[in-house]
Amino acid sequence: MYKIARKIFFYFNPEKIHDFVIYSAAKFRFLYPFAKFLYNPQSKNEVTINGLVFRNPLGLAAGLDKNAEAIRFWDILGFSHIEVGTVTPLPQPGNEKPRLFRLIKNKSLLNRMGFNNRGALEMKSEIEKIKKSLSKDFVIGVNIGKNKITPLESAKDDYAKCIEILFDAADYFTVNISSPNTEGLRELQSEQYLEDLLGTIYEKNYSESQKRNQNPKNIFLKIAPDLNDDEIKTLYYSAYKNKFTGIIATNTTVDKSGLDCNENEKGGISGVPLKNRSDYVLNLLNNLNKENNNKLFLIASGGVFNKTDFNDKLNLGASLVQVYTGFIYEGPGIVKSILK
Ligand SMILES: Cc1cc2nc3c(=O)[nH]c(=O)nc-3n(C[C@H](O)[C@H](O)[C@H](O)COP(=O)(O)O)c2cc1C
Repeated sequence: MYKIARKIFFYFNPEKIHDFVIYSAAKFRFLYPFAKFLYNPQSKNEVTINGLVFRNPLGLAAGLDKNAEAIRFWDILGFSHIEVGTVTPLPQPGNEKPRLFRLIKNKSLLNRMGFNNRGALEMKSEIEKIKKSLSKDFVIGVNIGKNKITPLESAKDDYAKCIEILFDAADYFTVNISSPNTEGLRELQSEQYLEDLLGTIYEKNYSESQKRNQNPKNIFLKIAPDLNDDEIKTLYYSAYKNKFTGIIATNTTVDKSGLDCNENEKGGISGVPLKNRSDYVLNLLNNLNKENNNKLFLIASGGVFNKTDFNDKLNLGASLVQVYTGFIYEGPGIVKSILK
């Protein structure tokens, strides 16, 4: 059925269809029972990460529901979690359009969205509104970033602000320093900024938890695939030292070699062409983890379209796997086809 819908969807502008799908998923609630009947695999295969229970290992990756508008729909489909965002402290429009492209021959997307979002306060109220109607075991991750106008030197304040505003709304946080579409953002992965940034985030998480007499939230670091082995190692040990829960590998790649697009086109590539590289990064992290008593939890993201891809990620040490582009190409049936 989705094959027909996809033909129609792919006829239109990618961002317009994306917005239409999010709007429909949020507003057309009468469709939820049908969606549940058709797509939800109703199977449990729990994963526990530092006390946070996920009903299965499959989640929806960041960037699809940037403003937390359709959370109930992702729960209905059977994902164990959604990562909303990337959210920034202040609302911002993102980059100029067009900024989202389908590379159909490559089963891929190219995007340079640039953290278009309605800001942390608006996200907090969206999550508060919907939380009661969600399944008790549905997990909400909040993926946080810095505003475009914030210089790298004060980026840490933006991440801290997001944690402060969204602490009660989030089940976990992801620190995104790997998007290729905000100028300079990936420099935060370098030693120059990393220690200070992760240290500040650790402190903020701790102080917000103390205020509420709660445990700190689980925090993950989302990294780019375009790093060398030494850089990945540095990120691993910095996350480890600053008591992060784990690492998400990976964000989109800027490597466009051999793809059905101009190599100079700006943006990040997701989907099939990303799979091998993100598997490589995951494997390296897994090996580092084995040397360190599996201290960090690994979440895989990059090129998952079916059960084989999903199992590859689990075999490379991932506790959870997230999809984005696979969902666009395979449709909502991807949840059942992976989890059944
Ligand atoms: C259109 C688009 C927007 C995205 N926006 C974000 C984002 O805001 N924050 C983020 O951490 N990752 C973002 N991503 C990256 C995805 O979360 C995911 O890590 C990446 O696409 C690789 O997974 P995939 O091959 O399953 O798509 C975005 C990806 C796409 C295609």
